[in-house]
Amino acid sequence: MPMELAHRRYAQQARWTAQLRRHIFAQTGMPNAARVLEVGCGTGAVLETIQVSPPTSLFGLDIDPQSLRLATSQVKNAKFLGGDAHQLPHPKATFDVTFCHFVLLWLSDPLRGLQEMRRVTRPGGAVIVFAEPDYSRRIDHPTELAQVGKWQTDALRAQGADPELGGKLSELFRAAGFKDIVSGELGAEAAHEASQADQELELEVLRADLEGRIPEKELQQALEQEKAARQNNQRVVYVPTHYAWARV
Ligand SMILES: C[S@@+](CC[C@H](N)C(=O)[O-])C[C@H]1O[C@@H](n2cnc3c(N)ncnc32)[C@H](O)[C@@H]1O
Repeated sequence: MPMELAHRRYAQQARWTAQLRRHIFAQTGMPNAARVLEVGCGTGAVLETIQVSPPTSLFGLDIDPQSLRLATSQVKNAKFLGGDAHQLPHPKATFDVTFCHFVLLWLSDPLRGLQEMRRVTRPGGAVIVFAEPDYSRRIDHPTELAQVGKWQTDALRAQGADPELGGKLSELFRAAGFKDIVSGELGAEAAHEASQADQELELEVLRADLEGRIPEKELQQALEQEKAARQNNQRVVYVPTHYAWARV
C-alpha cells in the first residue's frame, strides 16, 4: 500500500478508537505520565492526536523506515526511532505508559512483543493494546459481499498478519504475566454512517489490498457492488476489534 494511502488509513483507524483512547488514558492517569511509548507507531497517526498537559514526552517506535520518515516530517509532538517490537531498545522500566494500536497482529511473536512492552514499562505503569481485530468473526451485510471480506482476510494472512489475533488478546495478556486485565471489544463499521471521504477511502484500501491477488475483472465487479451497497446505505461490516490493558 502506498505510504500516503497508509497514512490516511491509519488516521481513519485512529478516529475509530479515539473515544476508547480518551477513556483508557484517563483511567491510567496518562495526563500526568512523564514518558509514553507507542510501539509500531507507523506514520504517527495516533501519536499526533495525543495532547497532554503538562507536555508529556511522547515516543514512537517502528521497524519501517519509510513510515518513520513520514512520521518525523509530519508529527511534531513526538520523537521517533527505529526498532523491532520483539526487542525494544530501551532499558527496563523506562516508560509510564506503553501502548500499541493495530500492531500485535503483525508480529511473528506477539507474546514476545507484549512481554517487551511490559519490560520497558515501570512498575505501576500501564501497558495498553488498543485495537486488534478478529476477522474470524467478521460479519458482512449484505451477505453477497461476504466474499470481499474473505478476500481481505486472506490478503492480511498473505502479508504475514494473524487476522484472528484479537480473539487471543486476553490470553496473551495472561501469558505475559499481567493480572487485573481490563479487556473489551469495539465493533461495527456501519458504512451508511461513514462520511463520503471515509467511504471512498474504504474502496481505495480494498483495491490496494486485493489488487494482483484477485483477477482484475472480479475485483472491479466486487468494488462496484461494494460501492453500490454503500451508496444505497445498505453496507454494514462488523469486525470485532479487541482491546486490553493492565498495570505492570
Ligand atoms: C497497521 S500499522 C499501525 C500503525 C500505527 N500504530 C497506527 O495505528 O496508526 C502496523 C505498524 O506496525 C509496524 N510493525 C510491524 N512489525 C513490527 C515490528 N516487528 N517492530 C516494530 N514495528 C512493527 C509496521 O511497520 C506498521 O507501521
